[in-house]
Amino acid sequence: MLSENVKRIILEFQRNEITEHIVYKKLAEKSKGKNAEILKRISDDELRHYNR
Ligand SMILES: [Fe+2]
Repeated sequence: MLSENVKRIILEFQRNEITEHIVYKKLAEKSKGKNAEILKRISDDELRHYNR
């Protein structure tokens, strides 16, 4: 069983992943062309990290 401290750290990592997903998504929405495409891809990656 995970200790409370380990659970807290894992939750923090998970929260960071979804925050990164949202930040990259918003940056992608404000960008154009190749930049928007790359930022969208990073945003999708971060969502996958959150869901893993
Ligand atoms: Fe990530």
